Amino acid sequence: MSPRIFVTGATGYIGGHATDVLIASHPEYEVVTLVRAEEQGAALRAHWPQITTVIGTLDDEKVIKEQSAKADVVLQLASSDHIPVVKSAIAGLAIGGGKLIHISGTGVLNDMSTGAGKSAPKVYDDIKDLKEITSLPDSAFHREVDDAVFTTGAQSNVPTAIICPPLIYGVGQGPLKKRSMQIPFLSEAILKRGRGFTVGEGKNIWDHIYVGDVAKACIVLIEEALKPHGGSAQWGPEGYYFVESGEFAWKDVAAKITEIAKDLGKIETADVDELSVDEASKFHPWAPVLWGGNCRSRATRLRSLGWKPEGPTVWEALPAMVKAESDAL
Ligand SMILES: NC(=O)c1ccc[n+]([C@@H]2O[C@H](COP(=O)([O-])OP(=O)(O)OC[C@H]3O[C@@H](n4cnc5c(N)ncnc54)[C@H](OP(=O)(O)O)[C@@H]3O)[C@@H](O)[C@H]2O)c1
Repeated sequence: MSPRIFVTGATGYIGGHATDVLIASHPEYEVVTLVRAEEQGAALRAHWPQITTVIGTLDDEKVIKEQSAKADVVLQLASSDHIPVVKSAIAGLAIGGGKLIHISGTGVLNDMSTGAGKSAPKVYDDIKDLKEITSLPDSAFHREVDDAVFTTGAQSNVPTAIICPPLIYGVGQGPLKKRSMQIPFLSEAILKRGRGFTVGEGKNIWDHIYVGDVAKACIVLIEEALKPHGGSAQWGPEGYYFVESGEFAWKDVAAKITEIAKDLGKIETADVDELSVDEASKFHPWAPVLWGGNCRSRATRLRSLGWKPEGPTVWEALPAMVKAESDAL
């Protein structure tokens, strides 16, 4: 029988791209996706005729549990912040014997201890620093959900893996949502403001990854999940995977976005202003978190499975991302 993969979030940016790569890499898999409404299902089936869609939300315990019980792998890419979907999926997987791959985010590492716009030295390696990463305070973003994956998975004897990307860049190739978050939000803000800006000096550092390389990381973990005993991947307490290709300072990204916007003729100057947190927050309520802190991870565990980033660099991807924001205004 073909392996059955149940995907949540296939209407979204990460889930849409990952489903596309999954189907292209493994046309033999049976792929089932969750959608909230039939029109979304119709759009997904028009794009990927071989898939099945089921209607429900992440809160529909019965639907999630039933589909998870039938799946060899649940690829939960809809939300890093939804505990009920994790519990319902694990309840179903406990019946059927499959494995969970859940998306988190390196917002969990967000470090503003040196002040907004300042660089912070702490770098987290997902092998060397695993204990520290998995015992961050509950106040850290996504942390309670990560913990629910570990504890509920262990209680139910369900193998789990958490894939934890940093800032994801690139235009998505799924059929519906193609837009990421931090770079699109900053591009939109700069285009609307008419001038570039950073939060503080913008010396704060984030790591990043191309959306297609996140998709490939999902495929690597699915392939391992389907091997006897979970293959070479780690599951459960050690199943925590960062996925990054390098890091940048936000001032360099802001400068490049501003330059591209000027070259497009959308703004008049390539000057970049340093804004206070309060000033930047007028352009997005999450400004300090989106563009003002530090998140520095190292994807050692995934690289040990043979994964490596192959996509375009963030600098290569930026023109299309800024153009997409400009076209949408
Ligand atoms: N983008 C990044 O840089 C990044 C990096 C790390 C982590 N993350 C996290 O990864 C998750 C997915 O990110 P994304 O950028 O792919 O977001 P997205 O484009 O908004 O996609 C999320 C998808 O999940 C679906 N979904 C969300 N809540 C749902 C619910 N309650 N019931 C049914 N479907 C639901 C949405 O369906 P609808 O289309 O029906 O709304 C949407 O299509 C987010 O939690 C995000 O914080 C993102």
